[in-house]
Amino acid sequence: MNKIYLIAFLVLICSCSNPGPGYEFMPNMYRSPSLETYGQNSYFSDSLNARKPVKGTIARNYLSTFYYENSLEEYIRAGNEAVNPFEGSEENIEEGKKLYSMFCKHCHGEFGAGGGSINHPVYSAVPHYNDGKMLRRPNVPMNQLKAGHIFHSLTYGLNAMGPHSSQLSEEERWKIVLYVQELQNYSAE
Ligand code: HEC
Repeated sequence: MNKIYLIAFLVLICSCSNPGPGYEFMPNMYRSPSLETYGQNSYFSDSLNARKPVKGTIARNYLSTFYYENSLEEYIRAGNEAVNPFEGSEENIEEGKKLYSMFCKHCHGEFGAGGGSINHPVYSAVPHYNDGKMLRRPNVPMNQLKAGHIFHSLTYGLNAMGPHSSQLSEEERWKIVLYVQELQNYSAE
């Protein structure tokens, strides 16, 4: 018990008698000996701690075949420029169709003409892919939207339709685009 009094007494003396900013009993707790992020050090030749990403690192949201931002101008530009890197082979379209039935059909219907199983009023006005009349954002109707427009809408979403970039890979989105383009020519007759 006496020891505790003695330590308390010493602490009191130290803290009262030191006119400076206070005595550091355990400086390592205040000034970590480990390297601080972005701090300087003597280990690396450039003497900075922040390291470059390892070779081959892919930045989040990076797409290797689509370089357009989430804006109307970029959407229009994507429609004019973007090219689907996947050819419209039977196999690719078939894959697009399978993905479409998993990710789109419930809102857009089996043939992209509405009537999906989701009937919440928010989704009551899904545009028909083969609509040739009502003008969309690029001033053309749905059935004339280009691959880049469709890919952009899938990637960034549009109003009630959410973005699908986290659910579908770049390749899957392009394959769905191929199938949507098939449906743009769909006619019920
Ligand atoms: C939750 C329901 C929902 C899902 C799921 C959905 N969509 Fe949509 N989609 C909509 C609605 C609603 C619109 C109309 C948005 C608007 O014009 O405000 C739309 C619009 C579109 C358009 C027109 C975009 C434009 O540029 O005008 C395309 C193309 C499209 N969807 C394709 C797809 C594809 C392909 C999928 C599957 C990957 C999909 N959508 C999934 C509801 C959905």
